[in-house]
Amino acid sequence: MSDRTLRSLSTKSIYIAPSLLAADFASLGPQVEAAEAAGADFFHLDIMDGHFVPNLSFGAGVVRAVRSYTDLPFDVHLMISDPDAYFASFVTAGADHITIHVESQGDTAATLQTIRDHGCSAGLSLKPGTALDAVLPFLDIVDLVLVMTVEPGFGGQAFMTDMLPRIQALRDVIDRDGHAVHVQVDGGITAATAALARDAGARMLVAGTSVFKAPEGMQAAIRSLRAPATTNGDTQALRSP
Ligand code: DX5
Ligand code: ZN
Repeated sequence: MSDRTLRSLSTKSIYIAPSLLAADFASLGPQVEAAEAAGADFFHLDIMDGHFVPNLSFGAGVVRAVRSYTDLPFDVHLMISDPDAYFASFVTAGADHITIHVESQGDTAATLQTIRDHGCSAGLSLKPGTALDAVLPFLDIVDLVLVMTVEPGFGGQAFMTDMLPRIQALRDVIDRDGHAVHVQVDGGITAATAALARDAGARMLVAGTSVFKAPEGMQAAIRSLRAPATTNGDTQALRSP
């Protein structure tokens, strides 16, 4: 079987990952097929336990159910307190990549290694209130760092522009030290904020609302997220102090 992990992708290219949290849960399979046809590179699946974040989403059974609708990679974002207890069930369900939070309980390095031992690539995320320094010691043993650009727990929130210096700082460390690590952003990604995130050094853009609820349709939405940075009014307004 071919390598479908995110490790197999270039850290230089732009990738768009629709988040199923914003899809119509009553027709997830067809929604996944439509997003793939519209140009999605892989899918982001948000798992919430009602404890690590104040919301519930879905579990491994749903991941398994949608797995048969696409061959694109599944990027599972575990917003749960005890990743050791649950990650293997998502591997079995069809995950290709698993991101855990540095704020979760357990031995972070050991969990990341065990995820890799299960054949997935491994990512590490941090909440907006956690210092970037918390993830830097792990850059040698992760395939991806996910910078949350909203407080995790809910879709449809506004992008936190004060996370842009953090994205840039992470990009600078990764480039300076030559780490093979993807920089992913998640939360409030629109055409305007995608341009800001790309300019700061992000290459994997997770987007829920702006893809699945796009009035202009998913294909146009995904294209606008992938487009090179512009200097249109919206983007300019966000750049201003
Ligand atoms: C938030 C999730 C995100 C969410 C993004 O806790 O991690 O993946 O689905 O949704 P939007 O793109 O609507 O901000
Ligand atoms: Zn997410």
